[in-house]
Formats: sequence, C-alpha cells, structure tokens
Amino acid sequence: MSTQIIRPARTLQGSLTVPGDKSISHRYAMLAGLAEGTSRLMNFSTGADPHSSLACMEALGAKVVHQGSGAAATIEVTGVGGAFCQPGKPLDCGNSGSTMRMLAGLIAPHPHTFILVGDHSLTMRPMERIRIPLSHMGAKIDLTDGHAPMTIHGGPLCAIDFATPIPSAQVKTAVLFAGLQADGTTSLTESIRTRDHSEHALKAFGATLTRTAARGPGEPAKLSIAGGQRLKAIDATVPGDISSAAFFLCAALLFPDSNLVLDSIGMNPTRAALLDVIAALGGRIKVLTVEEHHGELIGSIQVNCAPAAPATEPFTISGALTAQVIDELPILAAIAPYTANGLILRDAQELRVKESDRIALVARNLRAMGAELTELPDGLEIPGGQTLRGASIDSGTDHRIAMAFSIVALRAQGDTEIQGAEAAAISFPEFFTALDSLAQR
Ligand code: S3P
Repeated sequence: MSTQIIRPARTLQGSLTVPGDKSISHRYAMLAGLAEGTSRLMNFSTGADPHSSLACMEALGAKVVHQGSGAAATIEVTGVGGAFCQPGKPLDCGNSGSTMRMLAGLIAPHPHTFILVGDHSLTMRPMERIRIPLSHMGAKIDLTDGHAPMTIHGGPLCAIDFATPIPSAQVKTAVLFAGLQADGTTSLTESIRTRDHSEHALKAFGATLTRTAARGPGEPAKLSIAGGQRLKAIDATVPGDISSAAFFLCAALLFPDSNLVLDSIGMNPTRAALLDVIAALGGRIKVLTVEEHHGELIGSIQVNCAPAAPATEPFTISGALTAQVIDELPILAAIAPYTANGLILRDAQELRVKESDRIALVARNLRAMGAELTELPDGLEIPGGQTLRGASIDSGTDHRIAMAFSIVALRAQGDTEIQGAEAAAISFPEFFTALDSLAQR
C-alpha cells in the first residue's frame, strides 16, 4: 500500500485535461467488442477499471491494439461480429462494478459458460440487482450468496418489460445490452433517471432505441430496444471524465483566488448536475465551449470561487439529485466542512455499497481531521465554516476516497497522509501529478 503526503496549498491555478470518461469508456469497449469491424477509440480512460472491460473483451475473442501514447493514444478494438467465444478462464473484472454488471447483460445471450470474478471490494458488492432482471429474461445465473463469483450459463433470452427498483445505470445497461440480443422488444422504465451513456453508445454503434416520453407528471419515460440488432464499429473520442474533474472543481472552491480551466470535459446533462451543485456551494462556472460527439456533449469550462454570499441554510442533496451526482458525493461531502453553510446529504444509501462504504469512510476520515458531523443511515449532515487539521487518512482502497481527502488536505492545517493512495489509479492514474501542478504552495 502506498502513502502520499499532501501539504496545504495557498491556491489552485492552471489548466487541466482529465482522462476519458470511465462510464463511456466501459460502454465503448463492450459494444466495440461485440460489434462487427474495428472501432478506433480516442482518449479512452487511462483508469484501471475500463481496462478490465477491455481485457474481458479480449478474453471473449475481440482483438485489442493500443496505438500511440499520451494525447494521441488510440485503442483499436476489432469486435467478434455478434458472437463471443467461450473464454478459457474466468473473466476478471478487477475492482469494476460497471464491468461485472454490464458485461453480465452483454454476454448472457451467448451459448457459453462464463465465470466472472473480481477483487475483494467487488466481491462484497450486491449482484442480485442484475441477476433478477436477467433471470426474468431466461438467463441462468449463479451467485455466491448474492455476490461474485458469478457463473452465467448463457443461452437465448426473451424480452421483458422491466421497472428498475433502484436508480442504477449499471442495471439499466445490463438489461439494455441483453435486450439488444433477446427475442422481442425489451422495455424499461426508471423512477429516477440515471446517466444515459448506454443509450447514446448503443445508437452510435447503429442500434435503434426509442424513448417514449412520460404519460403524465410523476410517470417515468419508457426505453424500448428490439432484439436481434447488429452493431457496427465506430470511431469515437471519449469526453473527459466529469467525475475526475470534480476533484479539481471542488478544490477551486477552497481558495478565494483560484482559477482553473478544464478542457474537453463530458457535459452530458445526466452527469452535469454537478456544475449546479458547485455553483450552489460557492463556485463560479463559465462554459467556454461545447460540442457534441456521438450524442455526448464535450465542453471546456472555467471555474473560480464566487465572492462569499451571506450565510443561509445548508445546501441539501437528496432525491433525484443524489442519483445524478452519485460518484461526486465523496468529494462534495469531504469539502463540506469548508463551505460557508455546510451540506445535508440524504437518499444516498447506495453509497454504502460502492467500492467502499463511502458514507462511513467520509465520516471517519473527516472526524480524524477534527470535523463535526452527523452520520445518517442514508447520508450525512455536515456543518460549514469548520477548520480541519492534517491527519492520517484511510482510503479503504477506494479511489474516490483517496482523491477526495487529498483535496481536503489542501486547506487543512498541517500535512495529511493518504494511506492506500494508489487506489486513485482505478479511475485517474495522473491525479497526483495533476494536483502537484495545479496546487500553488
Ligand atoms: C455507473 C453507474 C453508477 C456509478 C458508477 C458508474 C455507470 O453506478 O456509481 O461509478 O457507468 O453506469 P450504479 O449504476 O450502481 O448507480
């Protein structure tokens, strides 16, 4: 386990590009692996998780070639043209819940036996949520007490009409990927709308997918996908990961004279609610450019700290907003003690079953830094206007906890030790280099 010492900073200034979006990279890797032809994926995430998806695609018969390096790096994926092979060994999903859950839907219609395994953290995460809809479609899936290792006895599936009981883009994607290859038309509704990268990616690879508007207020929209569709390879550039950018957007809130420009960031509306939260917590965001690529918005933004507003109520994140900023909650909660009015976080019980119990770890590490807060079953109440001191932080081998507390450390009194800092490489291997170049000391 590696330790990083983070010293306090005076301010944060400069410009930054972040790695390609993790969610979009997974989807492009998987759909390129299934498609016919060679896809060229630019700015593919450098994080370990999407590379677990690529490695699974190779094990299933796709060809993956890494071309060039740095900003010019391209990953070429030659897909299996609709027919995955029987892998010779278990499919290793590493630390990646997205790989395991979405892959299950993608491979379940194929006539082979697949064993999906992961690391200790992934083996603790709930998998019933995908077993249930996929088994309604006819898939035979064995779990180990609701968890990985997972064995899929693949075979033909039939369409279902499914209402997702928990807001989860991974569950939605598993059903859509299975529905793409099932007999009949699969329909799906979600009570809270989650990120729609799968919908855009499926369309980019040539699938037809329809979204029928809600029939009335409070009614969810319906997604439908006909089975038996073939995918065609694409050339695509993955937008920068807004969830990685979030660490630096939040860091900019901590210093009155901060100034940061983030280039080529994914601004998909189902992910960009973060920008509204940053503004509510005292950030000033200027969108400099926006363009669209395969249905995804990519933009450049400038952020700095707005002049302090008079104290009001704590900002509340709950309901649909919680689902929209689910991956940014660790950093938003971690910096909350420094905000003027604090933060109330509710409806976030899903955070307890992420790569770690993120509610418990944020609470424990903030307390180690001297913060006052209340831990709730589904969230946190964190008063603002607090001063924190450097401490020893347990990342719980969770990438987002390691990075969140590295940002908190910038405004603490004294140095902070991040234990298990290497976890950052799951989504953002360049994080500590970027932090060093932007933090002025
Ligand atoms: C993701 C969906 C979210 C998110 C995860 C990535 C995706 O998980 O937390 O990091 O790419 O679809 P859930 O689907 O479990 O909410």
